[in-house]
Amino acid sequence: MRKKSFLVIPKNLKGKTAVVRVDFNEPIKGGKLQDSFRIHETLPTLSMLLKRGARIILLAHIEDSVTKKQLSFGPIVGQLERLIHSKISFVKEYSKSAVDVGLSSGAKIDLLENIRFAKGETDNNPVFARTLASFGDFYVNEAFSVSHREHASIVGITKYLPSYMGPLCEREVRRLSEALSPAHPFLLIVGGVKFETKFALMKVFMPKADAIFIGGALANTFLRAHGLEIGKSVHDEEAVSKIKEDFFTSKKIFFPLDARVNKGAKGKDITKIRPKESIYDIGPETVKGLIDLARLTRLIVWNGPLGYLEKGYSKSTEDLLKGLSRLKTKVILGGGDTLSVLDHMKLHKKFYHVSTGGGAMLDFLADGSLPGIEVLKK
Ligand code: 3PG
Repeated sequence: MRKKSFLVIPKNLKGKTAVVRVDFNEPIKGGKLQDSFRIHETLPTLSMLLKRGARIILLAHIEDSVTKKQLSFGPIVGQLERLIHSKISFVKEYSKSAVDVGLSSGAKIDLLENIRFAKGETDNNPVFARTLASFGDFYVNEAFSVSHREHASIVGITKYLPSYMGPLCEREVRRLSEALSPAHPFLLIVGGVKFETKFALMKVFMPKADAIFIGGALANTFLRAHGLEIGKSVHDEEAVSKIKEDFFTSKKIFFPLDARVNKGAKGKDITKIRPKESIYDIGPETVKGLIDLARLTRLIVWNGPLGYLEKGYSKSTEDLLKGLSRLKTKVILGGGDTLSVLDHMKLHKKFYHVSTGGGAMLDFLADGSLPGIEVLKK
């Protein structure tokens, strides 16, 4: 099915049913959602579809952010109703008849059970994709943050229904595209733990960036590759040789000057870490230096926290967020962990763009597009 215009959702949708893939994968604790940024970001689209007269079938997944175990939406339907300001009919089965029962419930929004429970979703099975398509009259991808996955609800379904990019998804693509050929001076800030998830991004941005700051546990790995003592700090030993191979001689890459080795401590000179110590966060001197540098840049892309958040080391990430939020520099932020810090600070509106994407943001920046976006253009 050829897409007429994947950006323009028709105005009159009376009597039509929209199958909308959203990303409601928010952190959950004790059966309660902890953040709601992604959900909030989809609200304008949902109300736009309802105003135009459509019924909505929501496809989404939710998982335990640590174990990645898929969870049921059942226990949080009430919380979702309050966030969405609408009654939701929760449909547990992926069958046409179950969806029809949902549609007849009187609610304007049907939420289907975690789509990753359904056979055929993650392997993009065409039969399952066709089943999903049979639920509605058209499809909207409003899940930019899942669009790096070649799943049936992202890629397969677009073969069988007129398919559109939702406004949130479109904004993500437009804003993140600015970083593909960035305004200069351009600063890339990379944090987090796993080198493999950031490798492609760093490789692609090496020629484009004017400076690349490495923080988080990733910095520990770089410092170790440079022969510095990092004590018992979390790092990625397997990445050390790769770093030596690809990033050793770059003059663009820089690291923390100081680090926090325990909660109450001030910053400690990064060259003075003792074998029994651990680097848990970057230090205040480094944050100050970054803010000074940020003042001189035109664009910043930041993905990944600067400290060990799970152990409560969020201070430098918070301080840098605060500092950057006061500047005129365009800042593009993303990554699930960075978002979890931002969510508590309520500073979203202060930044040029806060991406809902974690892996999707990294892949988009590294590859220039995503499978779920490309299929909408065909
Ligand atoms: C995310 O949390 O980045 C998205 O919801 C995608 O989740 P996934 O990595 O489990 O596909």
